[in-house]
Amino acid sequence: MLPDLLLSLLYPVALWLFCITLWKHYINSLKDSASSLPLPPGTVGLPFIGETFHMICQGWQFYKSRKEKYGHIYKTHVMGKPTIRVWGTHNIQQILKNEEMLVTMAWPKSSIEIIGRKSIVASTRKDHNMRRALYSRAFTKAAVQNYNIRLEEIIRKWVLEKCDQVDVIKCLPETRELSLRATVSALLGKQLKQKQLETLTASLNTMAANFFSVHVNIPGTGFNQAMVARESVLKVIREVIHENQRLPDQHKDDVLSVLLSEMESGDLKQVEIEDMLIEGLFSALNGLPSLCCSTLVHLAQYPKVVSRLVEELEDSDLMQSDQCLSLDDLKGLPYLEQVWKEITRSSPPFGGGFREVIKTFELEGYQIPAGWTVLYSIRDNHEAEENFHLHSDFNPDRWQDVKTNAAWMPFGGNGIRSCVGQRFTITFLQQFIVTAVKYSKWELHEANPKFSSFPVLLPNAQLPVVFHHRKLKHSE
Ligand code: HEM
Repeated sequence: MLPDLLLSLLYPVALWLFCITLWKHYINSLKDSASSLPLPPGTVGLPFIGETFHMICQGWQFYKSRKEKYGHIYKTHVMGKPTIRVWGTHNIQQILKNEEMLVTMAWPKSSIEIIGRKSIVASTRKDHNMRRALYSRAFTKAAVQNYNIRLEEIIRKWVLEKCDQVDVIKCLPETRELSLRATVSALLGKQLKQKQLETLTASLNTMAANFFSVHVNIPGTGFNQAMVARESVLKVIREVIHENQRLPDQHKDDVLSVLLSEMESGDLKQVEIEDMLIEGLFSALNGLPSLCCSTLVHLAQYPKVVSRLVEELEDSDLMQSDQCLSLDDLKGLPYLEQVWKEITRSSPPFGGGFREVIKTFELEGYQIPAGWTVLYSIRDNHEAEENFHLHSDFNPDRWQDVKTNAAWMPFGGNGIRSCVGQRFTITFLQQFIVTAVKYSKWELHEANPKFSSFPVLLPNAQLPVVFHHRKLKHSE
């Protein structure tokens, strides 16, 4: 009786161990046999699903524990792909400097269809160069100077409205709406109707929630919901394009108008413009609220930082004035620069980027084989003692004498795939910090709010905050 029971237990266990061994064997067979170097250390989880569920369930802890165990480079198997995760400034630079030579874009198929096949992030080689160059024309210093005025107006109105409300405000949804209004003003050059804004917010959120879904387009799947939401965003964008084309030419200084003029000269097609606008709205609606929420938390936790910002504004005669700070004014505030850099260092909205290896190469004595996915990690790099002393401290003074640090890469380093919206985003963040400090004081409802970092760094509990009007010095 007992031996039978033991045998019936033993068979499935033996079969399971056999499958795991086969799986490890299979992963090892994906090595490049032309290279004598070993694969990086790491574990590859269960047959076929790898460590995908571990990653989803454990969130940031998944990466943190492996970073502690294996160091700069380790292998895993996530989202159906053998993957090597890399951090360390030199290692990341090797990857980002060798775009289209050693690595190429490798976002999952579902993500590419959700954001748009003609977007910049989804393009490669000639198409990528061309689209990126044309889009960049809409983010020159002169162009951002124009958006800056609208950004400040929208942010100031938002801050003053929040101060008028006596109740606790849920900052995550509120800063999402603020971010969308600000981005729409720069990208589309107009104020949308409330209904259009609501459609955009809800649809972009659905797209973000399902960005890494399984690529199955049948009703009810996450991917299908994201594609339906994408159609709603597209509908609003097409309405705005139609209106823009009917208006006379003068005073058109938004991103859409720049792109439409490139369409007239035959350089771009409408479908490319549509995808590039979705890409911009999508990046902004995910990244900017993350920065706003992190700013509100860090500054509330460090009142001395707020006092120094106020002092700097007063010393430059900018505290009492209601005039919008120009890009030159913002540039002339060194402590402000230390603060926004430290916010993006300690709380980068996006944790890293995916690439596919097209030619086997070496990092730290390991082979990074062709055909594998490489995930470079911004967050691991920012949270490393070797790069930033006492990295878990929020300390703007670390930027006092050091203006640049190659390990700092919230916008993806200096390669050909770095963030096109970087100048716009930094201006938004500068204006958000200055306006919040100038016009308001705020208290966190919870002293130490928790954030989740995957896929974007955002507060778990919507970030409840109470705002008050700041008494200006002359009226105190
Ligand atoms: C907080 C805000 C933002 C952050 C933190 C951010 C960060 C990043 C990062 C890390 C990358 C590189 C991704 C990779 O290596 O795979 C990237 C790429 C990109 N970003 Fe942003 N971004 C932000 C906002 C924006 C905005 C507002 C726009 C446009 C209006 C934008 C447009 C782009 C584009 C087009 C790319 C792809 C570049 C390429 O593949 O050549 N981003 N961004």
